[in-house]
Amino acid sequence: MCGIVGYIGTQTATEILLSGLEKLEYRGYDSAGIATIWEGDVNCVRAKGKLHNLRSKLEQVETHAQIGIGHTRWATHGKPEEYNAHPHMDAAMRVAVVVNGIIENYSELREELKQKGYQFRSDTDVEVIPHLIADFFKHSPASVPFSPSLFLEAVRDTVKKLRGAFAIALISADYPDELIVVRQQAPIVIGFGQGEFFCASDTPAIISYTRAVLPLDNGEIARLTPLGVEVYNFAGERLKKQPRLLNLNPMMVEKQGFKHFMLKEIYEQPGVVRACLDAYFNADWNVSDSTNSPVKLGLSADIYSDLEQIQIVACGTSWHAAIVGKYLLEQLAGIPTQVHYASEFRYAPTPLTPNTLTIGVTQSGETADTLAALAMEKERRQGKEPKYQARLLGITNRPESTLGQMIFHIINTLAGIEIGVAATKTFVAQLMAFYALALDLAYLRQSISPTRLQEIINGLRQIPGEIEATLEKQEHYIEQLAHEFAETKDFIFLGRGINYPIALEGALKLKEISYIHAEGYPAGEMKHGPIALLDAKVPVVAIATPGSVYEKVISNAQEAKARDSRLIGVTPVNDGEAAEIFNDLIPVSKVDELLSPILTVIPLQLLAYHIAARRGLDVDQPRNLAKSVTVE
Ligand code: F6R
Repeated sequence: MCGIVGYIGTQTATEILLSGLEKLEYRGYDSAGIATIWEGDVNCVRAKGKLHNLRSKLEQVETHAQIGIGHTRWATHGKPEEYNAHPHMDAAMRVAVVVNGIIENYSELREELKQKGYQFRSDTDVEVIPHLIADFFKHSPASVPFSPSLFLEAVRDTVKKLRGAFAIALISADYPDELIVVRQQAPIVIGFGQGEFFCASDTPAIISYTRAVLPLDNGEIARLTPLGVEVYNFAGERLKKQPRLLNLNPMMVEKQGFKHFMLKEIYEQPGVVRACLDAYFNADWNVSDSTNSPVKLGLSADIYSDLEQIQIVACGTSWHAAIVGKYLLEQLAGIPTQVHYASEFRYAPTPLTPNTLTIGVTQSGETADTLAALAMEKERRQGKEPKYQARLLGITNRPESTLGQMIFHIINTLAGIEIGVAATKTFVAQLMAFYALALDLAYLRQSISPTRLQEIINGLRQIPGEIEATLEKQEHYIEQLAHEFAETKDFIFLGRGINYPIALEGALKLKEISYIHAEGYPAGEMKHGPIALLDAKVPVVAIATPGSVYEKVISNAQEAKARDSRLIGVTPVNDGEAAEIFNDLIPVSKVDELLSPILTVIPLQLLAYHIAARRGLDVDQPRNLAKSVTVE
């Protein structure tokens, strides 16, 4: 998964490409490169590592090119070295190509091309593309009847030979007024400016220049010239398409005074919860209202009727949100729910069950494993008797994504674009989606009383203020605390019940941005093995919220204390046993146990953030990671 950007117009392309790549760096930052057409040649500059390396190299290159393509890479095939960086070119250096995605049949194509005498300069799957294009030109007539451009034909002929999921942008020195863009199962949007056109893997890359965009669909090729945009299908037929206006403001993709996007996004969480409350819940509903539903997700009966089971597929942080979701769906709506890692479910699906809702949770809507698991579920239920047919629901922050195009029923998590690679505000928004879904089902199935329903909704309405209070009162304390752990090697996070996934999430946040080894455990499991890890060098963070498991967590924390671990409590209780056993106590407000995960996760996000920042690490772009994982 990588980021690609392209420009054709009247301005100097280099700066526009670089600023676009800056906004796409969250997708990968192993190397970067751009290619422009200047004075009849393709000018290609590439650099290993982050974008600033490319920027320094480009300072020595003077070009006023008005067309170009750029790429920021997350390595899949081939090491993160300059020779593997995109753009890739043909032997004559006339065609330059950038790709996001994977060419699955590249080894056979590579062999065929080698047999024909083409030499390869990289280890990537992508390099077959410029050679295939060169090969087309070698054997092609001077023009193809009814086609506006031979370059377009060369690309069309080439993509028909490729298998995989990809988005491609290409330029050719022999066709200096054409930028060709292809989509096959990897996202790409076209941007429409005044006498200039753009393409990008994601809208933040072009939002400073235009809000009019056209996301390409699978199997489409766009030809961008200074005069306009034409869209074709792979069969070569011209398609009628309309751009639409984006509801995204360029400020959303700036840090706005925060040191890192991650911190800004942590602070945006009260607003995100408010947006979800407004969108998901009926403000006028009260306990005596028997005609309206308290929840307004707009999901139709074909999702809900005769529902017997729910299965959720997700990865990473979204998987953690799904485990909180399972708890809510089972405890509130009484529906047996299973949560699967999408990457496991794909290859070991559960036996088909009737009347089953399958939910895919993915903030990006582009995670390959989650999309493939959902596609597999859809396919294996096709043609079955009605009760076995697929019912799919997506929970995503990007309804315009591949998930959004693939699934009809979507809950939009309304967190706004998230730039920091570590998910924070999108996680909290996913939790909100699960509260709404579980309460909607509970209302319809009458599995909880209207009074309890009202109590939970009232509690949810308090959450934004409580998050604000936690941020305001605790951030400084957590920052000080974090300084003491900057050199710590291992961490354990404990939680039980609905806060067990929050322990997992706290550990994941710490691992991914601080590179400190951390494990999350259900507190009661410690004694079955992991307790052997504990000593004075291994701090234990315990989430202890009043409710069904409070005393149990306190006892488990005592067991850790007895092994000399330093104990950090995330708890609203600051007296009694809690005050005695916790070496450090991070208070959170006391709320209904069911709602506590939205609050307990906040200090854990801050702890991970401040430890990573103290260690001087690149919080927003941690090593080896990328924001959306569009490969298997
Ligand atoms: C963690 C993180 C990843 C993602 C995972 C799934 O902070 O960001 O673990 O949660 O890659 O991504 P989505 O939700 O886009 O499917």
